[in-house]
Amino acid sequence: MNAGILGMGRYLPEKVLTNFDLEKMMDTSDEWIRTMTGIEERRIASDDCHSSDMAYEAAKAALKDAEINAEDIDLILVATVTPDQPFPTVACMLQEKLGAKKAAAMDVSAACAGFMYAMITASQFIATGAYRHVLIVGVEKLSSVTNWNDRNTAVLFGDGAGAAVIGPVSEGRGILSFELGADGTGGPHLYQNEDHIVMNGREVFKFAVRQMGESSLNVIEKAGLTLDDIDFLVPHQANIRIMEASRERLKLPVEKMAKTVHKYGNTSSASIPIAMVDAYEAGKIKDDDVLVLVGFGGGLTWGAIALRWGK
Ligand code: COA
Repeated sequence: MNAGILGMGRYLPEKVLTNFDLEKMMDTSDEWIRTMTGIEERRIASDDCHSSDMAYEAAKAALKDAEINAEDIDLILVATVTPDQPFPTVACMLQEKLGAKKAAAMDVSAACAGFMYAMITASQFIATGAYRHVLIVGVEKLSSVTNWNDRNTAVLFGDGAGAAVIGPVSEGRGILSFELGADGTGGPHLYQNEDHIVMNGREVFKFAVRQMGESSLNVIEKAGLTLDDIDFLVPHQANIRIMEASRERLKLPVEKMAKTVHKYGNTSSASIPIAMVDAYEAGKIKDDDVLVLVGFGGGLTWGAIALRWGK
């Protein structure tokens, strides 16, 4: 059974925080943030909007797009490092909100690579025939763990959610190959202490440029494809310079890469599905296109997928 995407959805909070707003809050500038990261603005969830609320909105949109009901879901996987609380999981809260009575539910914790981990885990249940519909969500309320006194990290992150229904698709479509990896020795470069995100930007940058390129090339090779077969790249939206380095490794033109980093910042595990929905709605992805999805994050973790679009 080939596993692929049956439908997708996303949710972004309404409140916009621009670089100019940040200039008033800390010693930074729009010029520095735009040049160094590509970010112009990001979304911030209100105090009473939690990860489970954003996940719910994105999940509802994905179910509608996939034309299935909540009762049809066999398993819910929520990738997040900012759950409402340690437990119950966001996945269980989402199961209750949706009324997905049949679904098993758990969270997946792999930081910004979380959506890749969730998608590949989901696809195994589909490939074996054990389940027919797995709802996966990447959701983060990073504003709740941002240190607003640390300009090195505060300018980078945003809140949001993206969701997909993973299920069986026709021969030749869906996930063609994947790679997942982790390097715990890099843990000290990006972590959350009791309250906040702490980051060694230089080290994370170097790791990201190297790993995003290598993983992308690895999944292309594993799928028996060449660079000429690749139609579109969906990189984790952390920093435009990291994204551009991946795009150049794949020799793709600018218009063949999903880009939302300028308007939403880095939404961690939500960034890849949000960017995919954005590209799809803009008509940049069509049936039978071959996509490379690639992400990296704290852990350190990474994951990549080669995918032929369409049911
Ligand atoms: N505004 C203005 N100046 C800033 C700043 C900000 N928001 N943040 C840092 N600076 C300053 C530093 O203080 C430093 O000043 P100094 O030279 O006077 O000491 C200078 O800019 C360079 O800082 P540095 O951290 O060495 O820059 P960098 O080239 O590594 O770029 C990042 C910083 C964050 C843009 C870059 O490291 C990066 O994107 N890393 C990856 C981060 C990431 O993707 N994390 C999420 C992973 S999922």
